Amino acid sequence: MTLTDKTVLVTGATGFLGGAVARRLAGEGARVRALVRRPGRDRYIRDVPGIELVAGDITDPDRMKTVAQGCDYVFHVAAATGGTLDYQRKLNVDGTRYVMLAAAAARVQRVVHVSTIAVYGYGYAGDITEDIPHQPGRVPYNITKSQAEAVVRDIGAHHNVPYSIIRPGMIYGPRSGMWTRTMFNLSKRKPTIFIGDGSGSVPCIYVDDVVDLMLTLAVHPAAAGEAFNCVSDPAPTWRDFLGGYARLAGHQSWLALPALPLKLVAPLVELILVLRGEPQAVPALLPYIQACKTCTMDKARRLLGWQPQVCLDEGLRRCEPWLREEGLLP
Ligand SMILES: NC(=O)c1ccc[n+]([C@@H]2O[C@H](COP(=O)([O-])OP(=O)(O)OC[C@H]3O[C@@H](n4cnc5c(N)ncnc54)[C@H](OP(=O)(O)O)[C@@H]3O)[C@@H](O)[C@H]2O)c1
Repeated sequence: MTLTDKTVLVTGATGFLGGAVARRLAGEGARVRALVRRPGRDRYIRDVPGIELVAGDITDPDRMKTVAQGCDYVFHVAAATGGTLDYQRKLNVDGTRYVMLAAAAARVQRVVHVSTIAVYGYGYAGDITEDIPHQPGRVPYNITKSQAEAVVRDIGAHHNVPYSIIRPGMIYGPRSGMWTRTMFNLSKRKPTIFIGDGSGSVPCIYVDDVVDLMLTLAVHPAAAGEAFNCVSDPAPTWRDFLGGYARLAGHQSWLALPALPLKLVAPLVELILVLRGEPQAVPALLPYIQACKTCTMDKARRLLGWQPQVCLDEGLRRCEPWLREEGLLP
């Protein structure tokens, strides 16, 4: 089965991942309805053949029912990735509920819901498979993305909405704010300053691989009702990742900061974040980035015959033109 000539609603289409999904779907011959919350943020998807822009907000249940009407598939990408628990709950949990109810009313063939490996929390070392319990801790993003998955399962079961869940790691690629722009800016400074020798694993994944797995999850019979990690397996190290960006910038110089002083100030930083209502589990992040662990792709390989295609060297090479366009690389 393919998505050619299918009508597909993409939420979050003005964002980094959603824009890539919308363009790939249009390229495959789908009729894309791209949800736009804020006019003016649609530059990347405007005037693309096959993409229709529709105004809407996922927290508006009636509007979501209207825009989902007549759709065959929904790719639910929109989310808040920062803010207080109340704010993120409204978008990530309530918003997901309204998207799922709209999908139920439209009797779509499947919803592909974008979750994250953050639902596992930061406590696990070693291999992370899809069946380990969620440990979101008290980080609003991790909590609300975990609760959003529960909403998808609940409405999926009670309203008979077929769904599949993707849990990407840190998505890098052209247009990525955090994992390309910020990481490149961090790496290009000579030397690249990082905590320790960078031998811990980075659970990254190139954007085209995430998009590709999402399209597979929409149509593969074995994906229905299942959740899948989407991460490079084996995971590269932080030294590989940041060192790759540093190489693009023309150097390989690395300064390893000792972890101990940062470990001592981490609780204070966390306290400030807690007082702001945005806890991040900073003390747990230090051992997390130093640990060697992999979110395994065994399940996707076994059930779908799918695995990431873009290795780190190739992914970083594909970032280069965009970094130049953005004026970050000469
Ligand atoms: N980037 C990563 O490394 C990563 C890793 C794992 C999982 N994910 C997941 O991937 C998804 C996309 O992330 P991203 O990095 O592409 O984020 P992004 O660039 O910030 O895009 C978020 C999108 O959601 C839209 N949105 C937010 N609130 C909305 C609302 N109330 N109604 C309608 N649209 C709304 C935004 O619209 P505006 O343009 O109006 O803001 C934007 O289009 C999220 O579900 C995230 O949890 C991302």
